[in-house]
Amino acid sequence: MRSKRFEVLSERPINQDGFVKEWVEEGLVAMESPNDPKPSIKIQNGKVVELDGKPKEEFDLIDQFIANYGIDLSLAEEVIQMDSREIANKILTPSVPRTEIIKLTKAMTPAKIIEVVNQMNVVEIMMCLQKMRTRKQTATQAHVTNVNDNPVQIAADAAEGALRGFAEQETTVAVVRYAPFNALSLMIGSQVGRPGVLTQCSLEEATELEFGMRGFTAYAETISVYGTEDVFTDGDDTPWSKAFLASAYASRGLKMRFTSGTGSEVQMGQAEGKSMLYLEARCLYVTKAAGVQGTQNGSVSCIGIPAAVPSGIRAVVAENLIASMLDLECASSNDQTFTHSDLRRSVRTLMQFAPGTDFINSGYSATPNYDNMFAGSNWDAEDFDDYNVLQRDLRVDGGLRPVREEEVVKVRNKAARVMQALFKGLGLPQITDEEVEAATYAHGSKDMPERDKVEDIKAAQGILERGVQGADLIKALANNGFPEVANELLNLFKQRVAGDFLQTSAIFDRDWNVISAVNSPNDYVGVGTGHRLVGEEWEKVKDIPKAIDPRDV
Ligand code: 5AD
Ligand code: CA
Repeated sequence: MRSKRFEVLSERPINQDGFVKEWVEEGLVAMESPNDPKPSIKIQNGKVVELDGKPKEEFDLIDQFIANYGIDLSLAEEVIQMDSREIANKILTPSVPRTEIIKLTKAMTPAKIIEVVNQMNVVEIMMCLQKMRTRKQTATQAHVTNVNDNPVQIAADAAEGALRGFAEQETTVAVVRYAPFNALSLMIGSQVGRPGVLTQCSLEEATELEFGMRGFTAYAETISVYGTEDVFTDGDDTPWSKAFLASAYASRGLKMRFTSGTGSEVQMGQAEGKSMLYLEARCLYVTKAAGVQGTQNGSVSCIGIPAAVPSGIRAVVAENLIASMLDLECASSNDQTFTHSDLRRSVRTLMQFAPGTDFINSGYSATPNYDNMFAGSNWDAEDFDDYNVLQRDLRVDGGLRPVREEEVVKVRNKAARVMQALFKGLGLPQITDEEVEAATYAHGSKDMPERDKVEDIKAAQGILERGVQGADLIKALANNGFPEVANELLNLFKQRVAGDFLQTSAIFDRDWNVISAVNSPNDYVGVGTGHRLVGEEWEKVKDIPKAIDPRDV
């Protein structure tokens, strides 16, 4: 006979998740593999000749890149001698400022930084993250996609997302040849919702760079790096080729960050028996060494792997902390869905939500999950009210704000009409009034009329063949009834020339002022300091539409 209790438990969402025991040889271990190297560094004539137990003759490409460019050698020999627990406590101690810590952490080797972080429990990691995040203000990022790549819907969803507070929004494609439309719709819809929102379109690397150069996007983030040489070179890449790509983006005034995260090396079967966190530390050192301003990390799309092993979710927040310790902007994942359990997905997010990161979500689905073409998100459009209430309950700035239905309807409608005008101006297939109306009130693609996909795809490719660029979009908008939207695009392109938003962790406010780790560094030094939800912003977070005024009752 079966226990009724166990029968009920076996039906619970958590028991649809997958769990595995640790398997060190295959790297199925989140932290502290017995094969992780011990910290060491030897420097001769200004060159690293030994790194984490390996003499330079045995360096692989990753070791060599880190040894050449990734470590501040002026303090490295001193820091390697320091007691790791003492350093961990320094990071935890609020009164030791971030600027002091960064001097030490930048001089660490990958094995040393791991030894420091391995000592901490999750509350300590969160406290350290609160202080080590690069930018003072927190923010968050959205996914905006749909199963039909419907451009009117993307624009309307982008406008709503921007209004709700996402500082960055990204899209990708269901069908690759739709990509130019997706990128444009996202960029233009975002500026309608809230000027200053940055957008990207995740694609194969050469196309993605081309879109950026044409002025269809303003940043890029899915430039992957990996922690073992075999996985890295499997993708025909080296740290040098990725660094070259990073420079190409910077040279055109495009913000960019690398992506990495625990579990990728295990997934590709080449983890060398090392812990997921140690391999991720190597990725972050490669990012730093390439001169890139930030990272999207926290396992990201590999989250199922660390989540299946003991201490895996702790490793995920630990990798976010390591990114911040290396003075990198951290877009801390909380994107891909990994569990059937609402409890579990909330607790996973709490790790970054409570202390705050530069981007708490690096892909909150601003559409219902059935429209998410990034394989689903841990948070989606149906959770907006939950997220807003969590901010209000805890007085935490998760980057979103409550909105009124009328305002949302208004910006969605405008974004759809702007797309109608743009398509007319560029001679693209018509957007009908019926589509504008549907996008205004839609929840997802099930509420949208179908478009002629063959015509759309032809026209989308035509944009590329005709050499349409940012300036053409401005002209089309200005000549077809939306000069104010044209002007916001012009503002965006001016910023591309100025380049101030290439500084670490840059976002824009609605007047195109840069807010970054340079002009607004995290100044947390204990109770009452750092970023607090106060004043007007706290009033906005308090003001959820559902709250009744007891005086009216
Ligand atoms: N490591 C490296 N790259 C990753 N991406 C997602 N997760 C990881 C990871 N753990 C990148 C891939 C993917 C995009 C969504 O982000 O390039 O296509
Ligand atoms: Ca993302």
